[in-house]
Amino acid sequence: MKAGTAPLEKLSLPKNKINVLLLENIHKSAVELFKRHGYGNVESLRDAPSADELRVILKDVHILGIRSRTKLTKEVLESAEKLLTIGAFCIGTNQIDLKCAKRLGLPVFNAPYSNTRSVAELVLAEIIMLFRGIPQRNWGAHEGGWDKTVKGAREIRGKVIGIVGYGHIGSQLSVIAEAMGMQVRYFDTIEKLAIGNAAPCRSLDELLAASDVVTLHVPETPETKDMMTTAKFKKMRKGAFFINASRGTVVDIPALADALKSGHIAGAAIDVFPKEPKGPEEEFKSPLRGLRNVILTPHIGGSTEEAQANIGGEVAEKLVKYSDNGSTLGAVNFVEVALPPQSNCTRFMHIHRDVPGVMAKISEVFSTRGINIAGQFLRTDGEIGYVVTDVAGRVKVGMGIRKDLAAIPGTVRTRFLY
Ligand code: NAI
Repeated sequence: MKAGTAPLEKLSLPKNKINVLLLENIHKSAVELFKRHGYGNVESLRDAPSADELRVILKDVHILGIRSRTKLTKEVLESAEKLLTIGAFCIGTNQIDLKCAKRLGLPVFNAPYSNTRSVAELVLAEIIMLFRGIPQRNWGAHEGGWDKTVKGAREIRGKVIGIVGYGHIGSQLSVIAEAMGMQVRYFDTIEKLAIGNAAPCRSLDELLAASDVVTLHVPETPETKDMMTTAKFKKMRKGAFFINASRGTVVDIPALADALKSGHIAGAAIDVFPKEPKGPEEEFKSPLRGLRNVILTPHIGGSTEEAQANIGGEVAEKLVKYSDNGSTLGAVNFVEVALPPQSNCTRFMHIHRDVPGVMAKISEVFSTRGINIAGQFLRTDGEIGYVVTDVAGRVKVGMGIRKDLAAIPGTVRTRFLY
């Protein structure tokens, strides 16, 4: 259909024409959410297709959901002409060429905090296990032993937990540890409001010296690499416990193994490692293997059924918001624009390279037609600009607005919602 001759009701793509493809067995909560919002064409596949397969199956896909195994390279993204947006139904997004997606005007959404509670619960359980000496007693009982001594078996009530990194997980853990009667201390590089009776420490060293158990909840950054070294373990109280369920690079593992063998650290629970096996067929190697007072888990801190369901709902919700309303809040590679619900207006979305003068040209498209702009939202980041213009009522497509907006130099893509 030629631009300018489309009937009014064809202004936005009807939902039954929007194709949603979910790969890698994404939780059914995502499918349910799309259906609830009126998306009829939702296909869900088990596999992670290869690049060649993706180039074929993405031909008519508007909304794509993947997990960590599907690689969205530049070539794949450039071939998916109808694609509007991508959902990474996981935490990490390095399986996607985010720069290319941005250049093509494709916001990518993920679910960074859906498994916060799962990690906090595991850490609390590990604290109880370590204070009771369960790892070694469990090991002993499996070997036919019967160690009933109370020595080294303590309640967690009243003990000091030192939380390093008071973000989503750290602060959630703070709440449940305090509910169990622990005294909470925390250290964060940015000022954080203390929750409940938690008390901040001025430095990592102060926290290490004050805690009966230290648990790390920091991101992987150049500053956090090897933040726990031999010198830092020495600063911990003798007989304290150590937990890491954040990132493997944060701890010098041989230093931890030495601190455990020397008895300075009484036990540890480690979920993340500097080098982790790629799959079940690869052997897990670590200097911590065989230490009876250490709980080793294969990076499963956030892996629960509830977290998977939360991820499904959270990412699908962001995709639907973008498709239905244009909002990019929570996008990992894109300027974030939170938009009000669209009410009795036509919404024009314009993604462009961040060059001077685009905003003025967009406004001109409306002003030269005598159309009053009811609301306008703009975010730029030096690379990309996103302008959303609301115009009262239903604007006639026949006025050539779509064509003129698309013709503005620097335009990446345009979209319209009524
Ligand atoms: P978040 O971003 O909400 O919080 C991190 C906190 O650490 C922030 O408050 C930040 O200011 C603070 N921080 C940064 N550098 C610091 C430093 N040098 N010293 C002290 N504090 C510092 O992150 P969230 O969601 O709480 O996650 C924490 C960690 O847990 C991340 O590394 C994440 O990858 C990991 N994680 C692990 C999972 C698992 O399965 N084991 C699952 C989910 C998250």
